[in-house]
Amino acid sequence: MKVLVIHGPNLNFLGKREPEIYGHLTLEDINDKIREKAREHSFEIEIFQSNYEGALVEKLQEHYKKSDYLVINPAAFTHYSIAVRDAVLTSGLKTIEVHLSNVHSREEFRKKSVIADIAVGQICGLGHHGYLLAMDYIKEANRNV
Ligand code: DQA
Repeated sequence: MKVLVIHGPNLNFLGKREPEIYGHLTLEDINDKIREKAREHSFEIEIFQSNYEGALVEKLQEHYKKSDYLVINPAAFTHYSIAVRDAVLTSGLKTIEVHLSNVHSREEFRKKSVIADIAVGQICGLGHHGYLLAMDYIKEANRNV
């Protein structure tokens, strides 16, 4: 099972960025936990973070017909990037959208996701556990594949 994990803009600042909302773990702490989970499930994994929309699009294009699943926290791009949405669609990857915070209990503009309707599902509000639960789901959903 090949899994691409994408973190969008400003997530490289986790730990320093609004810790009361996003927690105290840094992105590297979270990535270590994701890598550990990937080892446990014997997934091949690539983790990518960028603050640039085009870089996310190019990474998704690179994985066209190469990976099976996408676990993505598109961060602010969630709410308006048609370019990221189109790239997710084109990639053909089965997609799980993850947010650290509960986007539905915050500002109105965060309730809209241009990714949610093309994703298998969305996990939000569970902090870094969301990424790990997404990986557990992938394992379970493919147990007999
Ligand atoms: C976020 C929620 C987004 O609204 C915000 O722009 C982020 C992080 C989250 O993980 O909770 O950057 O995706």
